[in-house]
Amino acid sequence: MYRVRFSNDPTTLRPEQAEGFFVGWPNPPSPQTLVRILQSSFAVWLAFDDDRLVGFVNALSDGVLNAFVPLLEVLPEFQGKGIGTELVRRMTETLGDLYAIDLVCYAELIPYYQRLGFQPLTAMAKRNYGAQAGVTPSLGRDTSLRAQPS
Ligand SMILES: CC(C)(COP(=O)(O)OP(=O)(O)OC[C@H]1O[C@@H](n2cnc3c(N)ncnc32)[C@H](O)[C@@H]1OP(=O)(O)O)[C@@H](O)C(=O)NCCC(=O)NCCS
Repeated sequence: MYRVRFSNDPTTLRPEQAEGFFVGWPNPPSPQTLVRILQSSFAVWLAFDDDRLVGFVNALSDGVLNAFVPLLEVLPEFQGKGIGTELVRRMTETLGDLYAIDLVCYAELIPYYQRLGFQPLTAMAKRNYGAQAGVTPSLGRDTSLRAQPS
């Protein structure tokens, strides 16, 4: 595998390190928003070439039963070197005590995820494409939107 450094700590990540992602997205999140996404996630694994972020995976979770992996991306020039596989391997290890790790992918990537231990299931998804670049301020900071104990 190509020599990159892996980290699960996004706290010191700066937008200047996180450019070039969301290739092909019509309304992509900015590098600043990507940093917010990673710093707001339940868990992340990051791949660095020197100081430059070249790949990442993030997970959202209740920390009890379920996790969802919304984003996995490797910069185009670093693809095909095993970095994505290692990011997913590390994330599944991090979340290994949970019952469910779910993600949504295009059909062409089913064999890729099967090799990493995932099974195909039927999924339903809703998308608000107007919000593709990210919501400001983050909804997650508004604790009134979170589940409250009854
Ligand atoms: C999917 C992705 C994360 C894989 O990362 P990577 O570091 O290139 O993956 P690895 O080097 O570990 O594995 C490469 C293998 O992935 C598979 N693969 C990658 N992209 C694929 C695609 N679009 N369709 C089918 N297979 C694909 C191939 O089997 C490939 O093998 P090859 O290099 O021999 O052709 C990367 O291609 C990427 O960032 N793609 C754009 C974003 C994306 O689709 N993310 C997944 C969202 S569910």
